Amino acid sequence: MYRTHTCGDLNAEHAGQEVQLAGWVHRRRDHGPLIFLDLRDRYGITQVVFDSTTSPEAHASASESRSEFVLQIRGLVSMRPDDSMNPNIPTGAIEVRAVTTNILNSAHNPPLYINKEGGEEEALRLKYRYLDLRRERMQRNMVLRHRVIKFMRDFLDREAFIEIETPILIKSTPEGARDYLVPSRLHPGEFYALPQSPQQLKQLLMVAGYDKYFQIARCFRDEDQRADRQPEFTQLDMEMSFVEQEDVLNLIERLFTELVHEVTPHKRLPTPFKRMTYAETMDLYGSDKPDLRYGLEFVSLSNVLAKSGFAVFQNALGKGGQVKGLRIPGAGNYSRKQLDEIVALAKQMGAGGLLWASLQQGSTPDQARSSFGKQVTPEEMSSIISQMNGAEGDLLLIVADTPAIVAAVLDRLRREFANRLELADPEVLSFAWIVDFPLVDWNEDEQRWDAVHHPFTAPLDEDLPLMDSDPGKVRAKAYDLVLNGYEVGGGSIRIHRRDVQQKLFDLLGISREVAQAQFGHMLEAFEYGAPPHGGIAPGIDRIVMLLANESTIREVMAFPKTQQASDLMTSAPSAVDGRQLKDLHIALTSEAVEATKDAPSALDPQAIVPEDR
Ligand code: AMO
Repeated sequence: MYRTHTCGDLNAEHAGQEVQLAGWVHRRRDHGPLIFLDLRDRYGITQVVFDSTTSPEAHASASESRSEFVLQIRGLVSMRPDDSMNPNIPTGAIEVRAVTTNILNSAHNPPLYINKEGGEEEALRLKYRYLDLRRERMQRNMVLRHRVIKFMRDFLDREAFIEIETPILIKSTPEGARDYLVPSRLHPGEFYALPQSPQQLKQLLMVAGYDKYFQIARCFRDEDQRADRQPEFTQLDMEMSFVEQEDVLNLIERLFTELVHEVTPHKRLPTPFKRMTYAETMDLYGSDKPDLRYGLEFVSLSNVLAKSGFAVFQNALGKGGQVKGLRIPGAGNYSRKQLDEIVALAKQMGAGGLLWASLQQGSTPDQARSSFGKQVTPEEMSSIISQMNGAEGDLLLIVADTPAIVAAVLDRLRREFANRLELADPEVLSFAWIVDFPLVDWNEDEQRWDAVHHPFTAPLDEDLPLMDSDPGKVRAKAYDLVLNGYEVGGGSIRIHRRDVQQKLFDLLGISREVAQAQFGHMLEAFEYGAPPHGGIAPGIDRIVMLLANESTIREVMAFPKTQQASDLMTSAPSAVDGRQLKDLHIALTSEAVEATKDAPSALDPQAIVPEDR
């Protein structure tokens, strides 16, 4: 037996017992005849004392030991002297007086500190991820992630859902991103795709009669990486039959409310979750994933400025654009230099310009300092201020442009000021549902309609007639779950009628031949009694990131990839041996041959031996 207890178990009740512990050397203090080692495992830290007079052999092993050595210790639990009690840790009242010590393994001096958060480059952490994962913060995140997933499984099991695994080698699914492809050895020139999500398979499970399905599903998307995007990530994938949108929303709202109460009870969770239509959220926040922990809502000025003679307003409104404002309380005393920075930021986002007015403390509204006071009448200025509820100490920002630019610019500025003024409470989880998304949007580059969610999403019944007359106005039975400014889930009620599906394919310009080649299996399945169904897929990485107060999903994934989609620990992706390519009927282009010339092959032993050996 390696250990009788873990390093987090022992307390005053164990005083006098003989115990055996195993773990890593966390910290070492050498006082000559007495050595103190903090022994660590994932349950905690226990102080072990080595006394050269009573246990000379154990003391000799301790003096040989260094940080991260793996030790096994047999000893007696004793109370610490009063002045060295540590009330901050559960084992702080006791220490173990070592009788024997066995060095189970030695360790190189680690390239990063385990016992304190370093300011080192993330690349170093990713290369030595197994060491980084020893750190307390990462362990906390891994445990939290485990508890979140376990809660989801238990909750859904209680609700009669069953977990069904679906294949990883499948046919390409149109989810909007680029596929990762896997060449087939047995079928020269043909490829599997890794699932961007199990979308089609879960719908086929509904046809098969498994009316409540879920899966902790790994998804793969070849897209640009961001703080909240990884090439492979995990969804809580769900699908249900005989449900309407309301059923899905209610179930998910219950799931997340109970989840937060159970795993992060210290967080504040406003309920019921807010609900907004896509049109409302775009109007108020210019974003389909607004952070609702603070206000800063946009104010429309188009009406009050309809007759203004100022060219900036006239031009925008004349071309079907908008004028909107954002009121920032507490930024009225921004200096000229600070305002110039904000204007530059707006321009970076595509704005032609940004108008500002600052209502400095102690001045009346008619003394507003502004970038456009000379271009508007005093009446116009005062209608702007009153429409925006401007008061002393406020900064008013105004953009006049196309709706898309107004939304993008003011959304960016809203987030920027929330950040600067620390308006978002980190202990609040502000969930919201965004509903009534458009079914399709116009792809200017390719001159065609694209599905906003995916081509199996049902239109609102009352909007069906618009599919012929005004497709851009058709709303979908699609919904997103938003949390603190992130999209943490998306789903829809699906089309289960062949005629509606055909209509949508026609609208998307998917010919019958293409539909048959890409989705023939789905269309055929739907001829065999498809029940009405719908589902959703919350993104687990993003949810755990927000519960853990982390700012990237890499912090809650055991082995994430870099922004360039590389795995720095294993050096994936890597060049492969010519034989492997031949088996797969693959020839590299001359560019690829050139690029991989010096790269070690995966079969090359150099590629698997760590550099520092
Ligand atoms: P969607 O594409 O909206 O829907 O994805 C659902 C959720 O998955 C998370 N997510 C990601 N997380 C990390 N890295 C990524 N690259 C990434 N991409 C998406 C987000 C997102 O809200 N099959 C549909 C669901 C359905 O209709 O039931 C789907 O995948 O949190």
